Amino acid sequence: MNEPLPGRSVPADTVIAIDGPAGSGKSTTARALAERFGLLYVDSGAMYRALTWAALDRGVSVQDADSLLELFESSDLELDPARRETRVVWDGRDISDQIRTPAIESNVSAVAAHPVIRSAMVDRQRAYARRRGVVMEGRDIGTVVLPDASHKFFITASAEVRARRRLAQQGEVPSEATLESVAADIARRDHIDSSRAVAPLRPAADAIQINTDSLNAEQVTDAVMTHIRGQVR
Ligand code: CDP
Repeated sequence: MNEPLPGRSVPADTVIAIDGPAGSGKSTTARALAERFGLLYVDSGAMYRALTWAALDRGVSVQDADSLLELFESSDLELDPARRETRVVWDGRDISDQIRTPAIESNVSAVAAHPVIRSAMVDRQRAYARRRGVVMEGRDIGTVVLPDASHKFFITASAEVRARRRLAQQGEVPSEATLESVAADIARRDHIDSSRAVAPLRPAADAIQINTDSLNAEQVTDAVMTHIRGQVR
């Protein structure tokens, strides 16, 4: 398992953890790495978003941890990372587009703050990494989910740059959104994610931090790959 695959430059069981706040550019980089190295791509945020969608759809309060857990455990959530964009399927229904709406953005951090929900999600996330090498992105991958990852990155950018990037992502922000309103939404989510008691957003002690303020997506991916290649023996 430790030998590199033919034509690939990392071992097939390589585990790469990518964390960072919204709009930092971590998803684009994580997807590109998975594709380049032939690893499984796991978008852990999509799992919290899917449960948030189901809660709103069924009228379950995002504050009610027990009911959220029951909903999660009695449902079938599938991530299909085979295609370029992860398809998210909840009880057979493709909800990939529904989880990227402003209603989900406003509620997902409340769902993700419940310790019982996090623990159920972390079990699933670790199961993905047991099967084969992965690139997993989120908020707590390097710190909690995969602390023994082969490579850890923490991708950041200033609040203003992140708000600009998010504003450019159509569909994820209301059509009447302004730079100020998007920045306020991101700041709210950052605050909840960083201040929660369990698995707050923070870099792992052994993560390489990359500020992407003046880098485009390709440059971020190149920077990450350069670090990985430098560490692969
Ligand atoms: O794409 P974006 O960075 O905006 O968000 P995401 O990665 O889809 O994550 C959505 C939300 O899920 C975050 O704001 C966190 O509240 C939560 N999350 C988490 O708590 N832990 C993770 N590993 C991933 C996401």
